[in-house]
Amino acid sequence: MIVYLVTGGAGFIGSALVRRLLARADVTVVTVDKLTYAGNLDSLGAALDHPRHRFEQVDIGDAARVRALFDAYRPDGVFHLAAESHVDRSIDGPGAFIETNVVGTFTLLQEARRHWTARDADGRAAFRFLHVSTDEVFGSLGDTGAFTEETPYDPSSPYSASKAASDHLARAWHRTYGLPVVVTNCSNNYGPHQFPEKLIPLTILNALAGLPLPVYGRGENVRDWLYVDDHADALITAMERGRVGETYLVSGREERRNLDVVRAVCRLVDEMAPRPGAAPRESLITFVTDRPGHDHRYAVDSSKIQRELGWRPRESFESGLRATVAWYLENRAWWERVRSGGYRGERLGLEQATAGR
Ligand code: NAD
Ligand code: DAU
Repeated sequence: MIVYLVTGGAGFIGSALVRRLLARADVTVVTVDKLTYAGNLDSLGAALDHPRHRFEQVDIGDAARVRALFDAYRPDGVFHLAAESHVDRSIDGPGAFIETNVVGTFTLLQEARRHWTARDADGRAAFRFLHVSTDEVFGSLGDTGAFTEETPYDPSSPYSASKAASDHLARAWHRTYGLPVVVTNCSNNYGPHQFPEKLIPLTILNALAGLPLPVYGRGENVRDWLYVDDHADALITAMERGRVGETYLVSGREERRNLDVVRAVCRLVDEMAPRPGAAPRESLITFVTDRPGHDHRYAVDSSKIQRELGWRPRESFESGLRATVAWYLENRAWWERVRSGGYRGERLGLEQATAGR
């Protein structure tokens, strides 16, 4: 039996990964999650009662508790996804991003290294630490070109700077201590269970409620979209077949302007949740103040992971977006519970009066 720790497994991408890992008969999964506002046991659903799954509510910055997890479960690999993940929140309060993404990653690396060092030769050879990161570490592109594994780091936001720092730590723990680290940097994900502060779920829920659909600036910024299950498959591929010390970029190569994404969501919501006699949802689009430091364009060349490891995305943006809108329509209970917490869809990231740590 292979034992994996998945940090951030109660989040959007982590929960999709846990579900996919449990589909393999030879894998036991230990989900390690602090359950911040973005973590949600509902997202794990049936996995919670699965005989090959354990849930541990632990902060990755708590060295003693992380050490106890390594000692108790003796994992063969770590999928490290736990992070503060929302750019707008990082503008309002960067402190939590430094604590979790930088100091938390440092703590996890140290404890992983202690565990790895104590294993026998076979255990050390088999162990992998997969550090899950973002294309945002590379900064902003002009109208042409794409990020590759050789693109220099140039992060713009507190979020992306904290992720860049964590990438450097992960690579340094490989070069200095020999820890078998693999790094992935992925483009924008979308799909079921995404917290409705991010563009696509926020747009779906506001469109359903007949609320304004906020588009930052003129909606000309471009993101490269990937369906979440395709990302989860890429992570499993990188864990199993990735070369130690290497970085792999992951994307769907589905570039879209934000305005076009919002319009596409509106058309699907009009089709799947019609409001007879009402104006098309596109009429709800509202241009609002731009995000400070807003990166113009991301595009990711994922040919290395495709060529070397054989990963390919299965969903197109059209098929994935349709599945996503359908999921939010069918899972009202999930997002109503999420929205009954502290966040109800308000604008974040203008560093208003609340500006703090
Ligand atoms: P998310 O915000 O939905 O989930 C993050 C999870 O981490 C939550 O369950 C949260 O409770 C947990 N967490 C936060 N701080 C923690 C701590 N100190 N200790 C333990 N758990 C903690 O994020 P996501 O969108 O699923 O992203 C997961 C990872 O993938 C992140 O590292 C992110 O940088 C990276 N990533 C995300 C995207 C994307 O488009 N969403 C793209 C590329 C990379
Ligand atoms: O590129 C990968 C990154 O994608 C991940 O590392 C992050 O964790 C993830 O949050 C995401 O970051 P973005 O900032 O690109 O995602 P977000 O959904 O916040 O915004 C997508 C684009 O839409 C961005 O250009 C800002 C814009 N936007 C966002 C919101 C929430 C709007 O126009 N209106 C909105 O209401």
